[in-house]
Amino acid sequence: MANIHPNVKQVLYTEDDIKQRVAQMGKMIEADYKDSKELVFIGILKGSFMFMSDLVRSVHLPNTLVSLDFMSISSYGHSTSSSGVVKINMDLKESIEGKDVIVVEDIIDSGLTLKHLLGMLHDRLPRSINTCVLLRKKEGLKTDVPIKYLGFDIPMVFIIGYGLDFAERYREIPYLGELKEECYKTA
Ligand code: PRP
Repeated sequence: MANIHPNVKQVLYTEDDIKQRVAQMGKMIEADYKDSKELVFIGILKGSFMFMSDLVRSVHLPNTLVSLDFMSISSYGHSTSSSGVVKINMDLKESIEGKDVIVVEDIIDSGLTLKHLLGMLHDRLPRSINTCVLLRKKEGLKTDVPIKYLGFDIPMVFIIGYGLDFAERYREIPYLGELKEECYKTA
């Protein structure tokens, strides 16, 4: 593959790998929601922006009222590990009451953020709520969190690109790569 970023140790999933998997996920969502009247995709910023954009373009539900909304959240406390207590920086624009909801996340590590978020969204009385997650670090999980649609299980490496950052860098990279250790470890 041409033009690999110099700080990338190895490419985990190419643009083509991602495209194929997202298309499969879109097909599954289409089948499951073909009778839905109103479906809202909720993208959790910032990491999910690229995945959300590709995912919704792969879902064709002409008889459903499909809409998109976004939330920006951050975890209280430690910057490197999730506390599971979520602070809402930017809330949804529309009510989700009575609607089918799919929460779109880029990555699950401990699972604590998504677990807490699902609790908050349940209280807003959606008709149904499911999750669509591109990447899961299975060994990082600290809680049982339901993932209805999963892209890939990944090892415990520092992954960047396709929306995922390190200190706000690398989100624009179109593939998923492992960041070189010297880029995040200080001596
Ligand atoms: C990532 C991801 C989840 C959370 C997962 O967001 O999008 O929200 O971390 O971690 P957890 O499973 O251990 O709780 P991040 O805080 O990196 O923000 P960003 O999406 O703006 O990059």
